[in-house]
Amino acid sequence: MNFQLSEEEVQQILARYPHPSAALLPMLRLIQGRIGYIPPGAEVYAAETLGVDPVRVHEVVTFYSAFREKPAGRYLILVCESISCSLSGGENILSFLKDYLKLDVGETTEDRRFTLETTECLAQCERSPAVMINGEIHAPATPDEVEKILSELA
Ligand code: FES
Repeated sequence: MNFQLSEEEVQQILARYPHPSAALLPMLRLIQGRIGYIPPGAEVYAAETLGVDPVRVHEVVTFYSAFREKPAGRYLILVCESISCSLSGGENILSFLKDYLKLDVGETTEDRRFTLETTECLAQCERSPAVMINGEIHAPATPDEVEKILSELA
């Protein structure tokens, strides 16, 4: 996929950093915010625009779990796997979701409705376990509650 930001967008990002390569993370966040993931063409675009080695760009995209290399489904489900949530039922929720959606972590249903991913702490530890669905936090969550939420989504 070819991808391009406007010249104005590029200049706005570059203006905030002393060296173009320092703008890599914000540029990748902007790209993902725009199209939902970072396809190979966008990696090449970011590398050429910022003068960064394409291998380095790919390393960054694959290192940070917040970046996706494939488009997400209409509903992105993030299950917190940090310690508080894991100890308070998060693993049960993740296990339930894998069975319910017939997915492994990082996969999307064939109808492209749901993508299942894990995440680090969602800053809801006191209400753990936490699940985020399209940016909305559900905490404390249970498998039954998550099933009800998913069944009510269009
Ligand atoms: S550990 Fe899950 S919200 Fe903090």
